[in-house]
Amino acid sequence: MDFNLKLLFTFFFFTVSLFSGQGSAGGYYSNRHHRSHRLRATKLFVFGDSYVDTGNILVPFSSAQQFPYGITFPGKPSGRFSDGRVLTDFAGKHLGVKSPIPFSIRNEVGEERLKESGINFAFGGTGVFDTSVPLPNMTTQIDLFEQLRHAESGLSNRDVHLSVALVSVSGNDYSFYLATNGSAQGLKPFINSVVNQVMIDLKRIKRLGVKKIVVTGLGPLGCLPIFTAPFSFKQCNQTINSFVQFHNFLLKQAVDKLNKQITNQQHSYSSSSSSSSSSSSKIFILDVYDAFLSLIQGRGSGRVGLLKFKTPLKPCCFGVSSGFNCGSVDEKGNKKFVLCNDPKSAFFWDSVHPTQTGWSLAFSSFTSIL
Ligand SMILES: *[C@@H]1O[C@H](CO)[C@@H](O)[C@H](O)[C@H]1NC(C)=O
Ligand SMILES: *[C@@H]1O[C@H](CO)[C@@H](O)[C@H](O)[C@H]1NC(C)=O
Ligand SMILES: *[C@@H]1O[C@H](CO)[C@@H](O)[C@H](O)[C@H]1NC(C)=O
Repeated sequence: MDFNLKLLFTFFFFTVSLFSGQGSAGGYYSNRHHRSHRLRATKLFVFGDSYVDTGNILVPFSSAQQFPYGITFPGKPSGRFSDGRVLTDFAGKHLGVKSPIPFSIRNEVGEERLKESGINFAFGGTGVFDTSVPLPNMTTQIDLFEQLRHAESGLSNRDVHLSVALVSVSGNDYSFYLATNGSAQGLKPFINSVVNQVMIDLKRIKRLGVKKIVVTGLGPLGCLPIFTAPFSFKQCNQTINSFVQFHNFLLKQAVDKLNKQITNQQHSYSSSSSSSSSSSSKIFILDVYDAFLSLIQGRGSGRVGLLKFKTPLKPCCFGVSSGFNCGSVDEKGNKKFVLCNDPKSAFFWDSVHPTQTGWSLAFSSFTSIL
């Protein structure tokens, strides 16, 4: 396994990022609905994996820093695992905030720019636990956020309260588990421990002052090109998808429980004091599973319904000898992958990541949450 391949393998799914950030009392919403009257700056802080990384992994380690990544946007490789924009970009645009600065290049941007936007701590290939990539797991990503809060970073408490955290957990923990000593019998307990760790991470982000936290559910991993390739990209693996649904079920149960606790605490707080200013925090789940599957099955409505992918499971860029080789070349510089003519015609960009068009369409089912 070459390094790129190994890296990509772990790049899978876990995109834990949080859309943190809005005030409880409706200020954030009103500013969202009346952008021209915006009074408050909001920021986006992002945690997780390749579904939300916008350039943290620098050359030579990232395939996302190689052609043809980035051909649609920004026109050259930018460290995004797509032909163009990813979830973070659509979330930022929707919230009306500047795209958060990738943590790795924070020193290259001016302090002003840093003050205007949030920070993206997400690294492709990472999970809530350690994976095969020597990159910060989610705990460490949150450590970086915590250090920033304590440093003289120009980041006020108010900035943080009015921000959104986007947390992407897309599956790298599972690909690593399966690639190492993970047994089939051990998978369910492992799913439990992943979800428990996600909840620990979400609570920590909340304690650090972020009021609105948005976490991704797992997408239909059994439909990823890397798994459907043996069947000519024709059918999803239902066994894998049923494990995904178990993860999503546990996550929803845990998030519902936590939200209830938060509401009760706030309730007892406001009845024991005359202050009604305690702002509510809340955690939201992005239903990536349903968003992706409805596009794959061509059952979307509205704008999404108009666009039906002819071969929804077939990626635009796919390795010849290994599905993970999009972006790789051999010693002579020959491409080890095939590239489609029009990335807009594909839902999947490479073996595990959507195209910009794919993200754009999927995002339309998330707008009510963000
Ligand atoms: C995350 O990485 C740090 C630093 O390598 C390590 O100490 C910690 O145990 C890891 N946390 C988890 C939950 O795997
Ligand atoms: C593999 O097994 C070792 C020893 O039993 C354990 O410490 C480790 O966490 C396991 N790795 C995974 C990914 O489950
Ligand atoms: C689905 O995935 C499982 C787990 O990787 C594998 O054992 C099984 O053979 C796959 N089924 C099909 C039909 O590919």
